[in-house]
Formats: sequence, C-alpha cells, structure tokens
Amino acid sequence: MGSRSLVYLLFMVAIATVDCNSEVDALTAWKTKLTDPNNVLQSWNETLVNPCTWFHVTCNNENSVTRVDLGSASLSGPLVPELANLTNLQYLEVYNNDISGSIPSEIGKLSALISLDLYLNQLSGAIPPSLGNLTSLRFMRLNSNQLTGVIPIEVIQLVSRGNLMIMNVSDNHFVGRAPHHNSTGFAITEIIQDPKA
Ligand SMILES: *[C@@H]1O[C@H](CO)[C@@H](O)[C@H](O)[C@H]1NC(C)=O
Ligand SMILES: *[C@@H]1O[C@H](CO)[C@@H](O)[C@H](O)[C@H]1NC(C)=O
Ligand SMILES: *[C@@H]1O[C@H](CO)[C@@H](O)[C@H](O)[C@H]1NC(C)=O
Ligand SMILES: *[C@@H]1O[C@H](CO)[C@@H](O)[C@H](O)[C@H]1NC(C)=O
Ligand SMILES: *[C@@H]1O[C@H](CO)[C@@H](O)[C@H](O)[C@H]1NC(C)=O
Repeated sequence: MGSRSLVYLLFMVAIATVDCNSEVDALTAWKTKLTDPNNVLQSWNETLVNPCTWFHVTCNNENSVTRVDLGSASLSGPLVPELANLTNLQYLEVYNNDISGSIPSEIGKLSALISLDLYLNQLSGAIPPSLGNLTSLRFMRLNSNQLTGVIPIEVIQLVSRGNLMIMNVSDNHFVGRAPHHNSTGFAITEIIQDPKA
C-alpha cells in the first residue's frame, strides 16, 4: 500500500471514528442525567468506539444506532437534546419509567423515527411542534404523562401527511381535543384521547 493511500485510509478511519463517537457521546450525555437504580445502563461504557455492544441498544450494519429499548427499566431523569444525534434511530422505547421534564424539541430531528414510545412516565410541558417533522413516525404513544397545552396542528397533520397510525395522548392534561374524524384520511389512524379533555 502506498503511503498516500495509507494516509487516506487513516483519514477515513478517523472520520468513521468521529462519526460513531457522536452516538456514544449522545447516549453518554443521557446516561449522566439518569438515575438508574437497577444498573440497566452498566454496559454503556463511553470508552468504546461505538455503542453497538451496549445492552438495550441495537445498531444497523453501519454501526449506527437504530433502537434504544429501555421500557420498564426504573429510570428517572430527563430526555436530553443530544438524542437528536442518533440520526438513524427508528425506535425510542422508554415507556413505563419515571422520566420527567419536557420532550426536547430536538427529537423532531430524528427523521428515521418509526416509534416514539414515552407512555407511562412523568413528562410535562407541551408536545413540541417540531415532532410534526417526523414523517416516518407510525406509533406515537405519549399516554399517561403530565403533558399540557394544545396538541400541535403540525403533529395532528402527521396523520394525513406522514405515516402516523397510532397516536395515544390519553391520560394527560391537554386542552382541546384531537380530531377523531376520518374525513381527510384518518382511516387507519387511531387517535386516543380522554373524552372529557
Ligand atoms: C470501560 O472499558 C474500559 C476499556 O475496555 C475499561 O478499562 C473500563 O473498566 C470500563 N469501564 C466500566 C465502567 O466498565
Ligand atoms: C451532536 O453532536 C455534536 C458533536 O458531538 C455536538 O456538537 C452537538 O451539540 C450534538 N447535537 C446535539 C443536539 O446534542
Ligand atoms: C421542520 O424542519 C424544517 C427543516 O429542518 C424546519 O425549518 C422547521 O422549523 C421544522 N418544523 C418545526 C415545527 O420545527
Ligand atoms: C391509551 O392510553 C390509555 C392511558 O394510558 C390506556 O389506558 C389505553 O389502553 C391506551 N389505548 C391503546 C389503544 O393503546
Ligand atoms: C372513515 O371510516 C369509515 C368507517 O371505518 C370507513 O368506511 C371510511 O372509508 C373512512 N373514510 C375515510 C375517508 O377514511
């Protein structure tokens, strides 16, 4: 191998390493904010080149994170904006924990997201309108939190413009009602909200 191609190879390795580390950094940034009484995040060792061997994390063939599965893990603490750096994330499963604080608007940058399962937590504040950019999203379960405000029209429109099939916003503190009618293509979509809300 010529020295030029060796330099090129090292350069590419350096790029690949930086790329992977941003996902380690993002998940580590989140871990440092979480309280984890059962040590479910014990394998999240930030010295590794990528997070693909960590428990509760799944990667694609390019060693980029596609799933985070932390349902019913007794975690408390917030969601963090750094999660937006998991650019290939498809499944964010964080249901049935004690997660609090608001939903970071940066979550709206996760353009590959298929499932956002944050139900049964202590999330508060409003649903960020940026979630309306999640056009790949099929399942949005935010039920049984402390969310307030109006469900943003941008998010409701995911039903007609995106791929949203199930949106459960029941058992929160929203004002107004999410439309249940199917006159504009709500056919396969189920929007579940408390009748009295
Ligand atoms: C993380 O990995 C490094 C290198 O393999 C090791 O020395 C260190 O003990 C690990 N840290 C934890 C907390 O497991
Ligand atoms: C994503 O990672 C980059 C580089 O590590 C960092 O500068 C940036 O703040 C991160 N973005 C978010 C939203 O955390
Ligand atoms: C959706 O993404 C576009 C392009 O990145 C951005 O300009 C817009 O502000 C986003 N929408 C919301 C509601 O954040
Ligand atoms: C929607 O959320 C409520 C409250 O958490 C729950 O009782 C109900 O079973 C959910 N519905 C569906 C279809 O998931
Ligand atoms: C609305 O729902 C009814 C009953 O499920 C169904 O027959 C109809 O095709 C739907 N219309 C639209 C526009 O989705």
